[in-house]
Amino acid sequence: MTKKTLAFLAASVAFTAVSTAQDAAADQLAEGKKHYMLICVACHQPTGLGLPAVFPPIAKSPYVNGSAERFASIILKGNAGPFTIEGKPYNQIMPPQEATLTDDKIAAIMTYVRANFGNTPAPVTAEVVASARKKHAERKTPWTQAELDAWKDDAPAK
Ligand code: HEC
Repeated sequence: MTKKTLAFLAASVAFTAVSTAQDAAADQLAEGKKHYMLICVACHQPTGLGLPAVFPPIAKSPYVNGSAERFASIILKGNAGPFTIEGKPYNQIMPPQEATLTDDKIAAIMTYVRANFGNTPAPVTAEVVASARKKHAERKTPWTQAELDAWKDDAPAK
């Protein structure tokens, strides 16, 4: 094999690795969008802007862009109002999804929400969700805003 052939082969291997990673990312976004449009959309709307005075925006939300463990835990356990978001009060129940959504699906929803609505695009792995699920396995009630705001660490479950 000539040097040229070797260089060509190395380049095509590298190219395949990149495109596979891109395909995986695109698949995760498509999966996330699918489940967002089935579940979250009812309240937070296709725009992520929610409904005034009823459902809060998740666009440019600190709860979306902050701790990934906290965001995963929000989806797993749900929330119970009262909440104040961008100075406006909300007082509904966000239903927990831990019994119906796998770690992969929750990670995909999180990745989709973070890549849209003016949020910071940082993909989330299923491991982050699995760790949050394990860490809060005993918890049966939705989060209050005070608990979410006091969220301390992203340490993995032991
Ligand atoms: C039945 C309506 C409903 C559904 C479905 C729902 N939420 Fe919520 N969500 C709420 C409400 C209401 C709040 C505010 C807290 C409260 O009043 O309980 C909230 C709060 C949030 C918050 C934190 C506050 C903020 O504005 O950033 C995030 C993040 C969030 N939801 C994401 C999601 C995601 C992702 C899904 C889909 C897996 C989802 N929600 C499904 C109603 C809903």
